[in-house]
Amino acid sequence: MSRLRVGVLVSGRGSNLQALIEAGKDPMYPARVVMVCANRDCAALELAKKASISREVFRLANFPDRKARDLAMGNTLRMHDVELVVCAGYDAILERVFTRQFEGRILNIHPSLLPDFAGTMDAVAMALQAGVKETGCTVHLVTDDVDQGPILAQRRVEVRPDDTVESLRERIQAEEHTLLPVVVKRLAGQPLPLTL
Ligand code: GRF
Repeated sequence: MSRLRVGVLVSGRGSNLQALIEAGKDPMYPARVVMVCANRDCAALELAKKASISREVFRLANFPDRKARDLAMGNTLRMHDVELVVCAGYDAILERVFTRQFEGRILNIHPSLLPDFAGTMDAVAMALQAGVKETGCTVHLVTDDVDQGPILAQRRVEVRPDDTVESLRERIQAEEHTLLPVVVKRLAGQPLPLTL
């Protein structure tokens, strides 16, 4: 069985990356992470190292501008024959030069029920502050409009009266960790790129 080659973009803890790595340990799972790219040093890179996955940091400071950085990152992913890119806690906006190369092949996971609380890194805190009864997480295709691409899947999470940002984030992330591998598995079974 040939498995879908996945590249993961990270900036932080990497728990969603780890969920994909774990899923890929099952030889019957139809995808595997072959490359991890980060825009800074972060814990996620250590997880990639532990799993013996190729990894590279693309620090903006090492490039003339964002476009050059994203071009280099895209080239590296292509050198690793990456067929699907997953933004898993990646906190930079991708340049057009990158999204064009991987159009219909880039996923993002966002900790809200999009379109609610789009375009922010504080979606969990904002949901709590807004007093909503439920929030959740969304996997969507990345387009040039931040958090606006076609929605592929969502999971709902109830907001409890005694929730803190941390407790709510923990329950949302638990859903993310099962949702993301499910969506990647689904995409591995259909022709890519997806049409936007
Ligand atoms: C996740 O909650 C995801 O929804 C958001 O960033 C967080 C990344 O967490 N985009 P991790 O680095 O995967 O642990």
